[in-house]
Amino acid sequence: MSSIIVLLTLVISCLAKTVTYDFDIGWVLASPDGYTRPVIGINGQWPIPTIEANEGDTIVVNAKNSLGNETTSLHFHGMSQQGTGPSDGPVGVTQCSIPPGSSFTYQFTATPAGTHWYHSHDHAQYPDGLRGQMIIHDPIWEASLGVDQQIHFSISDWYHNQMPGLLHTYLSPNNPTGELPSPDSFLVNDSSTAPTLNFLPGKKYLLRIVSVSALACGSIQFQGHQMIVVGIDGVEVYPETTDAITICAGQRYNVVIVGQSNPSNSFSYLVKMSTTMLTTIPSNMKTEVQGTISYTIDNILKPLISSSFSNSTLSDSTTLDDMTLKPLDNQLLLNPVGQSIDLYVNQTYYPGIGSRISLGSQPWVEPKVPSLYTALSTGESASDPAVYGPGVSPYVLSSGSIVQVVLTNPEAHPHPMHMHGHEFQVIARGSGTWDGNTNSLPIIPMKRDVVLVPANGYFVLRFRANNPGVWFFHCHIDWHLAAGMAATFIEAPDQLQKLESIPLQGASICTSQGYAASGNCAGVTTTSDITSNANCNTIFNTNTDGYVNALSPYVS
Ligand SMILES: *[C@@H]1O[C@H](CO)[C@@H](O)[C@H](O)[C@H]1NC(C)=O
Ligand SMILES: *[C@@H]1O[C@H](CO)[C@@H](O)[C@H](O)[C@H]1NC(C)=O
Ligand SMILES: *[C@@H]1O[C@H](CO)[C@@H](O)[C@H](O)[C@H]1NC(C)=O
Ligand SMILES: *[C@@H]1O[C@H](CO)[C@@H](O)[C@H](O)[C@H]1NC(C)=O
Repeated sequence: MSSIIVLLTLVISCLAKTVTYDFDIGWVLASPDGYTRPVIGINGQWPIPTIEANEGDTIVVNAKNSLGNETTSLHFHGMSQQGTGPSDGPVGVTQCSIPPGSSFTYQFTATPAGTHWYHSHDHAQYPDGLRGQMIIHDPIWEASLGVDQQIHFSISDWYHNQMPGLLHTYLSPNNPTGELPSPDSFLVNDSSTAPTLNFLPGKKYLLRIVSVSALACGSIQFQGHQMIVVGIDGVEVYPETTDAITICAGQRYNVVIVGQSNPSNSFSYLVKMSTTMLTTIPSNMKTEVQGTISYTIDNILKPLISSSFSNSTLSDSTTLDDMTLKPLDNQLLLNPVGQSIDLYVNQTYYPGIGSRISLGSQPWVEPKVPSLYTALSTGESASDPAVYGPGVSPYVLSSGSIVQVVLTNPEAHPHPMHMHGHEFQVIARGSGTWDGNTNSLPIIPMKRDVVLVPANGYFVLRFRANNPGVWFFHCHIDWHLAAGMAATFIEAPDQLQKLESIPLQGASICTSQGYAASGNCAGVTTTSDITSNANCNTIFNTNTDGYVNALSPYVS
């Protein structure tokens, strides 16, 4: 048996191929929920293409910015980007933005397998449409599931207004409580009409579901069918059966659903937006989308069962708790901890500026020089957090150490937190603050790359610093990221400098916009230091400058 697997692995790795996408990013009109608006499409189309490859393939994405009036970038959410940090995509972290008329080529290995997505990582731009699905297949695992068909779809909230205007209002001094803009509707696969799932009796389906939301979580429930969860984010897990799942911004679920063996009718499925994050819920907001699992038997389409399913309410007891999932690789609790980082969600109103959120000492503000380029150009100083500028909330991680991140969230709202470059273990989560007790930690903790920190609660993550790079850690509510809710992990900069260099194309899109492509900020603590050091990363400051920094993302 094991020799067959070795053989299969060999065959598959020999078949590793290069998958190339030419993406021309531009404005198109779309009406996913009946309201027509400009959205950001690719090659004249929206929804944008799905990226699909096998684990181990090389993916090349040639991205051309044809928007004319906005900068952009692409991030491939879920990819570990080992040795290919400059292709990770977040602006200010691993690259400068791609200005209108310019191009940037992303190249990386497709790993880990899983249901992923790709999206703009430039100034809260992706909710204007620049987000798509990305499926990385693990053929051996898929064969082991014995599924007859794979089906993939996204869920998301949707706004009728464009992000720049909404962002301006959200970040402005007139919004002291940081009230979030309410979405107008909820979409399944970029439509308010959910796709019909055509099932055959007794067949097995692998559903790959990704939330590409800007803000809201969504729950999914299938009438007359249970879900067997087999994967979350890029992590394959031991099967667990549930009636309902909740998927928050950036999260993915792989679930197996078995068609009923002798169905006498078709069934509904329900996708509901969670509105707990919203202060005001507009009366015309559409929070629910209903789809159909349709059975056709002997050429006869079975009628939909009539029931009050559409009004079913989800209780916590029927919704899966992701903490109970166990990864198939059986990775043991990482121990002992070499470095512990305490972060705290701090939403503060800065008079004259607006509401901002920090995780570390101050809200994240986009630096002039991408932090990765600073790490690659400052020699031994790269392991001094000060060279990155205080505005990026920098934490330097030493090579190979086990890093623990304790995040405390005193707010009345949960946050989906995402780390680039890693799937972390979630070793504890709860309400209040962590008591630091390590006696009852799971032996094999749950792992993923986006995890919810509860309202008035905490989580504790662990990962090994084995992926040299500069990795963003941030809230995946795109509004909160724009408000600064992020920190920067500079992982093993000494190793990183041996592995990577600043790409020519990356340097050129920095300099073409008047930014240096390398920089050292040691000793810079005030705004005037920044002004006098053109190479230096920026800081968040409480003058109008900070407001302007966070609000001037677009080329005028
Ligand atoms: C850019 O152009 C598009 C298409 O005309 C428009 O809908 C959008 O509002 C513009 N964006 C900005 C920031 O002006
Ligand atoms: C969802 O949309 C993608 C393309 O955007 C498509 O490939 C996929 O088949 C759709 N899923 C369903 C269930 O229709
Ligand atoms: C379900 O809810 C809708 C609106 O939310 C309402 O119009 C309908 O009467 C309800 N149906 C049942 C069976 O309760
Ligand atoms: C939150 O940030 C503000 C502004 O920097 C600071 O004054 C305050 O002490 C912080 N609160 C906590 C609990 O750290």
